[in-house]
Amino acid sequence: MKKASVTTALLLAVCLSATTGFCDTRKGEKINGKKEFAEHCAICHPNGGNTINSTKPLHRKALKANGVKSAKDIIAKMRNPGPSMTKFDEKTISNKEAQAIAEYILKTFK
Ligand code: HEC
Repeated sequence: MKKASVTTALLLAVCLSATTGFCDTRKGEKINGKKEFAEHCAICHPNGGNTINSTKPLHRKALKANGVKSAKDIIAKMRNPGPSMTKFDEKTISNKEAQAIAEYILKTFK
């Protein structure tokens, strides 16, 4: 009986640490661009539009016309935006998160 409970406790400890480990890894690697976009950008860019300046939405054609052609260009806009857009530095949105948001924009708003 005593042996069994020790085994159970050990197993539990291993499982718990494994679970935590998995969670950390997933959090670090898998960033949800859609969620990040909803959180930081959708207020002014719902469905890829632009509630403040309708000539600068996030649809591919408009982006291209405004010289925004790649994920890198979108990230540059977050770091150094035009008039009336919130500035997002690395403390607010990490490079990884910014990349995920940019990819989400490019694949979602066509
Ligand atoms: C407070 C409102 C606001 C928020 C929040 C906001 N934007 Fe903007 N965004 C704007 C405005 C206004 C412009 C047009 C700026 C200009 O005149 O250059 C713009 C322009 C852009 C452009 C250039 C679009 C084009 O067609 O030239 C990109 C890319 C962009 N935003 C991405 C983002 C991303 C990504 C986020 C979230 C991380 C975000 N924006 C959050 C208001 C906002």
